[in-house]
Amino acid sequence: MGVLKELEDIRHIIDTCDKELTAIFERRLEAVLEILAYKREKALPVLQPEREQEVLNKVHTYLKYPEFSLELESLFRQILKISRRLQSKRLFPYNIVLIGFMGSGKSTVGKEISKPLEMDYVDTDHWIIEKTGMSINEIFRTQGEAGFRKLEVEAIKSLQDKNNTIISCGGGVVLTPENVEALKKNGRLIWLKATPQEIYRRISGDTSRPLLKDTLSVEKIEEMLTKRAPLYENAKDIIVDTQEKTISEISMEIIEGLLKNMIYAHR
Ligand code: S3P
Repeated sequence: MGVLKELEDIRHIIDTCDKELTAIFERRLEAVLEILAYKREKALPVLQPEREQEVLNKVHTYLKYPEFSLELESLFRQILKISRRLQSKRLFPYNIVLIGFMGSGKSTVGKEISKPLEMDYVDTDHWIIEKTGMSINEIFRTQGEAGFRKLEVEAIKSLQDKNNTIISCGGGVVLTPENVEALKKNGRLIWLKATPQEIYRRISGDTSRPLLKDTLSVEKIEEMLTKRAPLYENAKDIIVDTQEKTISEISMEIIEGLLKNMIYAHR
């Protein structure tokens, strides 16, 4: 009986801590949103990674027992992630969709922006590979381009209910108007633009793209790009020229471009 009573008493301490933590957590999240609104109003930069390090350094100095330093670090890393995700949900209450020719950097850039924004990332080609258990080359070989395009439509449909997600699309996604329509419903489309020469440089040696595998040349890219450019142009909300820019420069340009165009989603 006595033992149970002691256990209950300690559990009571834990319940009280959880209640206080919840209230403090809520207050912290409110403050994060207030800062976000303030920064937007004053046109200050929204992402400030150096501030996160400052927070981590500071909290260690508050610790009474250094034996919990690892636990504290991991708690605050998680809190910072949650805060980032909350902010990006407010800033981008839609999907960020990357379109553009093969080799324009959609996957690399998509993964890169998903990190600071703590947003989910999906790639339509990967969705198809996972769904079928086949490589893109195998699908083209066994089902032809038409079979692949059907799978692509399925992939886009399955992403319809996603929100606050970065979607990197296969280069030919714009060939099917139904895809563009579905993506635009809940997404801002970013066209990553690159010249045929640059695309050639980036994808030569890579045999994972059936449409260019045996016929790769600047001329062939130019020919395909000429046909597709009007489709990218019509589908896009924002164009980002990727020429001679680093991945992080391209990523910043996308984020800034979206922020410039946005109507701030108030709480
Ligand atoms: C294609 C682009 C590829 C892939 C398939 C067809 C296209 O994706 O979907 O090989 O028609 O442009 P990436 O643009 O990611 O290479």
